[in-house]
Amino acid sequence: MKEIVLSGIRATGQLHLGNYYGALNKFVRMQDDYNCYFFIADLHALTTHPDPTILHANVKSILSEYLAAGIDPDKATIFVQSDVPEIPEMYLLMNMHVGIGELMRTASFKDKARKQLGIKTDNDNDDIEREIIGNNSNKRVNAGLLTYPTLMAVDILIHHATKVPVGKDQEQHLELTRRFARRFNSVYGVEYFQEPENFNFGGEAIKVPGLDGSGKMGKSEGNCIYLLDDEKTLRKKVMRAVTDEGPKVPNQPMAEPVANLFTLLKIVSAPDVVDHFTEAYNNCSIRYGDLKKQLAEDILKVTTPIRERIIGIRNDDAYLSQVVKQGAEKARESASKTLREVREIMGIKRFF
Ligand code: TYM
Repeated sequence: MKEIVLSGIRATGQLHLGNYYGALNKFVRMQDDYNCYFFIADLHALTTHPDPTILHANVKSILSEYLAAGIDPDKATIFVQSDVPEIPEMYLLMNMHVGIGELMRTASFKDKARKQLGIKTDNDNDDIEREIIGNNSNKRVNAGLLTYPTLMAVDILIHHATKVPVGKDQEQHLELTRRFARRFNSVYGVEYFQEPENFNFGGEAIKVPGLDGSGKMGKSEGNCIYLLDDEKTLRKKVMRAVTDEGPKVPNQPMAEPVANLFTLLKIVSAPDVVDHFTEAYNNCSIRYGDLKKQLAEDILKVTTPIRERIIGIRNDDAYLSQVVKQGAEKARESASKTLREVREIMGIKRFF
C-alpha cells in the first residue's frame, strides 16, 4: 500500500515562490509514488478574517494554481477543507487533549496575536500572554487563531498521513501534530495515530527568502514574487532586490540581502549558474545586475508555463467544481472512517 501524504495551503491570496518551492512543487513530484491528499485551507484562512467577498475567489485561485502547477486530480485527491465536515468535528474532539499553554507558546500564534493586538515588537520576551488576558479594548485575539495547530493536526491525522510536504516555517506545527498524536495514543492506550514528518526528498526543509533584504517571502511581508506575476512585473521585482555595494576583498562573507539572492539562485537555477556567480562574488568581479537578470530569467522559465495554464483554467467553473466535488467525496470517505473510530475510542457511541 502507498504511504499517505497530506498537505494544504491557506486560502489567503495568490501563491508565491515560497509556496511553490516550499510546498506545491513537492506535491507535484510526490503524486505518482504516494497516496496524496492536497487541500485548500479555507477554515484556517478565517483565523485572520479575510473579506467574505474574496474568500471564495481565493479558494478558486489556489485550486487553479494547484492544477496549473501539475497536480492531477486523477492521481491525487484535491479538496477544499470546508467541504469535509468531519474535520471540524474531529477538531472539537482533539481540542480536549490540547493545552492552551502549549498553543500560546507557538511562534506563529505569538506573531499573529501581536499583529491582532497591534503590538509592534517581535521581541520574544514581551509578555504576550499577559497582554492577551489583560487586554480590555476591542482588539481581541480570536480563539481560532490559538487553536490553529489543533485544526492543522486534525487535517493530517484524519487521513493518517505520515508525510507532510511543507516549508520550514510549518515545522513547529508538525512537531505539535506529533505531540498530539502521541498524547491521544497514550491517553487511550491505543496505537492509533502515527507520527507524521516533513518531507523534502531527503534534503533540508526549505525557506525561500524575500528580496527585500531580510526574512522569508510571505504574503503578509509584501515581498512576494507570485506565480501569476507577468514578465514585466517579475523582472522589475527581481531587479529591485536589495543588495550591497559589492565585495571588497576576496571571499568576503555575504551580507544577508546578498546571501538571500544566492539562496534563491540555488533554489531556482542550475548548479553551474550558481557556481559561476559564487566564484564571481568570491573574486570580487560580480555584477549584481547580471546575477539578477539571470535569476529573473530562470524564475520566468518556471513560472511562465504555470501562469499561462492558470489563466487557461481559472474561469472554468464547471471543471473546477467537478475536481473538488470528486476530491471531497474521496476525502470524506477517509475522514469519516477516522472520525468514527476516534469517537469510538473516546467513548462516544451511537444509540441509533
Ligand atoms: P501557508 O498557507 O502559510 O503556506 C503554504 C505552504 O507554503 C510554504 N511556504 C514557504 N516555504 C518556503 N519558503 C517560504 N517563504 C514559504 N512561505 C510559505 C509553507 O511552509 C506551506 O507548506 N498551516 C499551513 C496550511 C495548513 C497545512 C495543514 C499544511 C493547514 N493545515 C496541514 C500542511 C498540513 C499554512 O498556513 O501554510
